[in-house]
Amino acid sequence: MADEQSAAVQNMSIGDGLDKTQEEDFVDPWNVASSSAKGIDYDKLIVKFGSSKIDQALIDKMERVTGKPVHHFIRRGIFFSHRDLHQVLEMYEKKKPFYLYTGRGPSSEAMHLGHLIPFVITKWLQETFDVPLVVQLTDDEKFLWKDFTIEEANRLAYENTKDIIACGFDPEKTFIFSDFEYIGNSRGFYRNMCRFQKLVTFNQVKGCFGFGDSDCIGKISFPSIQAAPSFSSSFPDIFNGKSNVPCLIPCAIDQDPYFRMTRDVAPRMGCMKPALMHSMFFPALQGAQSKMSASDANSSIFLTDTDKQIKTKINKYAFSGGQTTVEEHREKGGDCSVDVSYQYLTFFLEDDARLEEIKQGYSSGQILTGELKKELITILQKLIGEHRERRAKITDDDIKRFMKPRKLKYDY
Ligand code: TRP
Repeated sequence: MADEQSAAVQNMSIGDGLDKTQEEDFVDPWNVASSSAKGIDYDKLIVKFGSSKIDQALIDKMERVTGKPVHHFIRRGIFFSHRDLHQVLEMYEKKKPFYLYTGRGPSSEAMHLGHLIPFVITKWLQETFDVPLVVQLTDDEKFLWKDFTIEEANRLAYENTKDIIACGFDPEKTFIFSDFEYIGNSRGFYRNMCRFQKLVTFNQVKGCFGFGDSDCIGKISFPSIQAAPSFSSSFPDIFNGKSNVPCLIPCAIDQDPYFRMTRDVAPRMGCMKPALMHSMFFPALQGAQSKMSASDANSSIFLTDTDKQIKTKINKYAFSGGQTTVEEHREKGGDCSVDVSYQYLTFFLEDDARLEEIKQGYSSGQILTGELKKELITILQKLIGEHRERRAKITDDDIKRFMKPRKLKYDY
């Protein structure tokens, strides 16, 4: 019954009475759909979700506090939304440390470029703020949602761990864990899950996640599992028993419903609300209407793709905002706002001046689609090639080191 729900949780409903057939964007942890070729309207999403924009004032503050320029994902609005980031910066200024939490649902052996985005920014945040990090691998989530055995989901968690380690995290400050393996062994995790479960009703999860009467009960209680790592008391062995270390979660915006609920429940558990940084979605090769799918090999570039595959996929599938003939392109120019290759460059070409040059050149018709794609192919071949090399060097001992519950190195 509605009157059982707290107002805050009621307002969290992501569906908001909106059904997926309407001409509006739809975003939840399982579905992303937009009716526009330009993709999701992220400004509207901020209003709908009730988060805040990462604006210039916040960027200036971040640069002032850290004494270094922000990552280009932040500068270019790829991480566009946040909750309580000001507080995190203020605490950092007062030398009160925080920790980072992010995660990955291991649904496929190979991760794609889109999966890399939260880890790239997390690595930058770890380096910039010199803070510990916990990475949750939700093998249990994939078991519950997909047609996997527990063993298969757990195996994928290990495969993905290699890609995560290859992003360059600090082994002294990073704990990567599989839910199946860690939850039963921690003296804090399951207790926090139960505290959380006691404070959320079936009505509230239904409202927030759209679960129905025929969803299995594992799904219904899963939000407590994704919430628990937001509280340092879930990791007594990692944080030396400290219970109120503040947490910052970098994630894609589709994960926000979990953390909106977490933030609602946290004060009633006597815990701090985690802060958040949200990214946009990395567009599929076919265009920004949807998120990439790990199950469609041609919708994305995988971290395991060869140089040749990268080249073929970009040339063949990357949706072009260019014109159909060279003459027409020279005359009218290309449309960067729908051009997937250009958008990929905004993610992976770090040089601002060169990016601007390409934007001007492409929009005015001086640069052709083929030239734009060529530059992107070179960048991605280098990026993925280097990742592949780092991944190949990771040993079983490296994996054990990152996944062993142990006190992380930080100063308190
Ligand atoms: N549910 C996420 C996924 O399917 C995985 C995840 C768990 C996560 N905890 C997280 C993602 C924290 C971001 C931040 O990929």
